Amino acid sequence: MTTIAIIGAGPGLGAAVARQFGRQGFDVALVSRNQDRVDALASDLTREGIVARGFAADVRDPNALAAALASATARLGPIEVLQYSPVPHRDFMRPVLETTPTDLFGPIEFSVYGPVAAVRQVLPGMRGLGRGTILLVNGGTAVVPHPERAGTSIAFAAESAYGQLLHDTLGGEGIHVAQLIVPGAIVPGHPRKDPAALARTLWGIHQDRHGFRHFADDLDS
Ligand SMILES: NC(=O)c1ccc[n+]([C@@H]2O[C@H](COP(=O)([O-])OP(=O)(O)OC[C@H]3O[C@@H](n4cnc5c(N)ncnc54)[C@H](OP(=O)(O)O)[C@@H]3O)[C@@H](O)[C@H]2O)c1
Repeated sequence: MTTIAIIGAGPGLGAAVARQFGRQGFDVALVSRNQDRVDALASDLTREGIVARGFAADVRDPNALAAALASATARLGPIEVLQYSPVPHRDFMRPVLETTPTDLFGPIEFSVYGPVAAVRQVLPGMRGLGRGTILLVNGGTAVVPHPERAGTSIAFAAESAYGQLLHDTLGGEGIHVAQLIVPGAIVPGHPRKDPAALARTLWGIHQDRHGFRHFADDLDS
């Protein structure tokens, strides 16, 4: 059995993706900053018959993130699917004319250094398996920058470029890299933007293995 690692595994999308992939037979590594919270989610999943473990790391600390993924591999086995979907911090979303170089450290650490650290850690295992899937989840500012949310707009654009480069470079090795854009908010009960609906979309992307950028809903929704 192989493993999905969910980076930014909270009660919304992270938990829904854990259930979606767990029900399909994946073991689940849950990564967020708070060990108690990922342990509690892992316990819930275990009660539902899913093999799950929690690992604490701040994605803004590349060494800690790599160490968490190394522990996950040691405990659960090779990571076949990596999802990078921590929820961005509110203070990344400042108006463009108030944004200083220092204000961009956090967004770049979060959306660029974190994905690069995670991908570099899991790629040898995916190559060993001969297959893998890397899923990036972003808001609509990855596609249409928003003047009131400069940090995420700038950093998501860089993350998107990294993902597209990986897509183009790794496809020939059976490693599929894709991005899901969620315009607006994740909305419980929404036909396409409920966490479980988004998790089904991500499962479909993993199965279909076609194209880099996918949209959960219309961009102006
Ligand atoms: N929520 C929305 O309305 C919305 C809209 C558009 C796109 N998205 C995308 O959807 C994904 C998030 O889904 P969600 O909102 O339902 O979140 P979620 O899966 O419920 O939780 C995400 C988790 O990310 C963790 N996290 C935040 N900062 C972190 C850090 N520095 N290091 C490690 N973990 C961190 C938090 O846990 P800890 O506090 O324990 O670290 C949080 O519980 C993201 O990719 C986001 O871009 C969300």
